[in-house]
Amino acid sequence: MSKAGKMSKVTTSVIRSMKEKGEKITMLTAYDYSTAAVMDEAGVDMILIGDSLGMVVLGYDSTLPVTMEDMLHHTKAVSRAVERAMVIGDMPFMSYQASVEEAMRNAGRFMKEAGAHGVKLEGGREVAEITRRITSAGIPVMGHLGLTPQSVHQFGGYKVQGKGDTAAKRILEDAKILEEAGAFSIVLEVVPATLAAEISKSLKIPTIGIGGGVDCDGQVLVVNDMLGMFKEFTPKFVKKYANLNANMKEAIEQYLDEVKKGAFPGKEHSF
Ligand code: KIV
Repeated sequence: MSKAGKMSKVTTSVIRSMKEKGEKITMLTAYDYSTAAVMDEAGVDMILIGDSLGMVVLGYDSTLPVTMEDMLHHTKAVSRAVERAMVIGDMPFMSYQASVEEAMRNAGRFMKEAGAHGVKLEGGREVAEITRRITSAGIPVMGHLGLTPQSVHQFGGYKVQGKGDTAAKRILEDAKILEEAGAFSIVLEVVPATLAAEISKSLKIPTIGIGGGVDCDGQVLVVNDMLGMFKEFTPKFVKKYANLNANMKEAIEQYLDEVKKGAFPGKEHSF
């Protein structure tokens, strides 16, 4: 029996009912076939092909240079691996801001060409109309509030957002606006835990926290961060569940050594 036969696929209604039942939602980013296959087999609920791709896979110093073609290429690879999880494509910088029509076309490309089950886009009230239109075309939309990395230059760095009453009130209002516009969930990135808790309590749709504390309805991490693969910097909200960077270096050094010494390939690897 196939894996899909044993497990029911995660859909927007599954995600919504998990919140209703108080069951935590798990999400991780993935950018390639092999990693996505492991995650799906492990039982992650949602896989996000994040535009963090730009930093952890493509080596840019922000997410801004990432293109639609980059995102579609990696979303296709992830989609080929996934049987159970809901696959979300992250709309890259300037793929949805210029016009509603362009946003609709690009959201549609994630679904038609890359096999995504929904899209994520950053912003609050300013993307409400876009969220409404994309949702009304049958495409699930995940919102993203707080530290939205595509606005790093406007924020003046990767800083905690929603500190102070006015800023907190604006993010809470934005969350309600996105819910009303049809978003099926909202990522809350690097906001005070008390604010994330209040937003989570105020909404019917689930919140997915990254640096938003334990009271969010679910959590997401960038896979390269949580596996200890990305060593340029580690944000405070990251817990490293492995140290793959060191493991990979050790394995590669051992391979180099064995090739130099003539210890690899052995008879068992030869024909
Ligand atoms: O691009 C990304 O990986 C993200 C997550 C951190 C939520 O947006």
